[in-house]
Amino acid sequence: MNGAVALAHPNFALSKYWGKRDCAGNFPAVPSLSVTVAGFATRTSVTFDASYVGDRVIVDGDEMSGQSRARVVELLDRVRHAACDARPARVISSSDFPASSGLASSASGFAALALAAVRAAGLDWDATRVSDLARRSSASAGRSLFGGFVELEAGAPGATENDLLAARPVAPAAHIPLAILVAITSDATKAVGSSDGMRWTMNRSPFARAWLEEAPKLHTELRDALLARDFVRLGELSEASALAMHASAIAAGLIYWRGATLDSMSTVRALRDDGLKAYFTVDAGPHVKVLVRPEDIDPVQSALEATPGVLRVERGRVGEGARIVDPEEAS
Ligand code: PMV
Repeated sequence: MNGAVALAHPNFALSKYWGKRDCAGNFPAVPSLSVTVAGFATRTSVTFDASYVGDRVIVDGDEMSGQSRARVVELLDRVRHAACDARPARVISSSDFPASSGLASSASGFAALALAAVRAAGLDWDATRVSDLARRSSASAGRSLFGGFVELEAGAPGATENDLLAARPVAPAAHIPLAILVAITSDATKAVGSSDGMRWTMNRSPFARAWLEEAPKLHTELRDALLARDFVRLGELSEASALAMHASAIAAGLIYWRGATLDSMSTVRALRDDGLKAYFTVDAGPHVKVLVRPEDIDPVQSALEATPGVLRVERGRVGEGARIVDPEEAS
């Protein structure tokens, strides 16, 4: 029996990935840049044992079947193939935040799974190689292997399944003082997952082409603002990227927002009118993530909590990359 336990944080994209290259291998059509968010975590153990009968995947206490199990087994198969190891696996994973709701549980989930599986199989891969493995299952997961601010390039046009594409760190966690608030607006799981949402947008949105042209420009500007430690520009460009991504999806009929999502955005803008530097971003779900300077966190949290429809507000901070942990270690 060989096992390993890994912990990974989710990441929130500041410049968004939305849309895949038209080829096998799960390559993004646009570059993205994210911040790894501590305060939320997924912990996953993987054990390979010849005595197991088939793979078992248990997530937050539930045995997975169908498509959810198949996505995990596909990653395990890649690891088994690389390690020349045919043993069945047991995967036990739990997150301390809601799954499949736009809080990036697939990012932390596949990052922790990839790292635990690689180590359990005895492969001596570096974080870049593990990032490529995670990216094949969920492109955003490739970014959670690293801490701080992390970039994932678009796949090269004409990339083939064998080409590697890993995320890479752009700046460490301490690069710019930043706190993150998450206004939770629903406890429901989302109706349309991000891969389906991207496909739907690319096939049906009259603005898909505009998004694909605009996203790389926003990304470059955002990266420059981050490297220049320009908090205001970083915030403005994060909002611009989120709004452009959602505009392309909404034009295809795909609306991830709820009333409280819009009200939270209005709260953030009203705070700005009062002189507080706060900026929002929204992923493929209804929650609003707010970027704020650490010294401004209390008034921004209070204003979000007072926003109609906001169920609660969670605090995050810029975190470290995925790592192997002692089975007993706390997040
Ligand atoms: O990698 P996926 O399938 O979890 O898609 C991520 C999509 C967004 O979260 C909306 C944007 C991003 O870059 O993380």
